[in-house]
Amino acid sequence: MKIASTLSRLVNTRAVYMVALADDCRTAERTQSTGVHLVPVTWENVNDVAKVRGDATAQTMRQLLVDGALGVYVYMDGEFAGHFWGVHSGNEIKRMWGGVDYGPDEVLLCWGWVDHERRGLGLFQSLIGALVNRVRDEIGSIRIVADVPVDPLASLAAHRRMGFRLTGRLEYVRVLRKLVSRKEVPMDDSAAEPLLRHKSP
Ligand SMILES: CC(C)(COP(=O)(O)OP(=O)(O)OC[C@H]1O[C@@H](n2cnc3c(N)ncnc32)[C@H](O)[C@@H]1OP(=O)(O)O)[C@@H](O)C(=O)NCCC(=O)NCCS
Repeated sequence: MKIASTLSRLVNTRAVYMVALADDCRTAERTQSTGVHLVPVTWENVNDVAKVRGDATAQTMRQLLVDGALGVYVYMDGEFAGHFWGVHSGNEIKRMWGGVDYGPDEVLLCWGWVDHERRGLGLFQSLIGALVNRVRDEIGSIRIVADVPVDPLASLAAHRRMGFRLTGRLEYVRVLRKLVSRKEVPMDDSAAEPLLRHKSP
């Protein structure tokens, strides 16, 4: 038992679907429910996340601001309810989460999260829409990509609702945080519908 848990800490396998939004595409329009507010993350509000997710997450979000990432927070009835960020690769290939490569000239959406109590209300779709608008306003025409969990499929469903398309499945293995294998298989977006038909929200 102890050996198994030690091994699982040393060896980390991660599988994700990759999704993308074409260079100049905006997202689908989403009607905002009453009481929902989407705001860019700034030095004034960045620490709001701490109340719900703790200081370590707030520190990560402050670092994202320092690094020039674009963030959006969502509030519901005045309470902090979620976040989503976009990082620009610049003109090189960058690596996120130890195995997700993006760039050159792409924005990777990352650090997406919605408060457990408020899931299933469309807040993540609203975050995606607001973040894509920020990217378009501040960076312009650029391909926007995201890695989404293969299970559960909520993030895949939300991205597709907002106009993103499935492009592939990526699986990578890290041993002691070092990447030892990485395989990305291209997929056609038509494969998404059958996957989502079996969804279990
Ligand atoms: C993924 C996450 C951000 C979704 O937030 P949310 O506000 O509940 O998402 P939304 O309500 O905007 O959209 C979810 C969509 O997925 C669907 N869905 C929910 N659970 C699902 C599941 N298990 N399988 C498939 N689809 C699911 C919902 O029905 C909805 O689609 P619909 O509008 O067509 O009905 C949230 O669950 C979360 O924070 N998870 C943990 C962190 C994470 O996985 N982040 C993803 C980063 S890419």
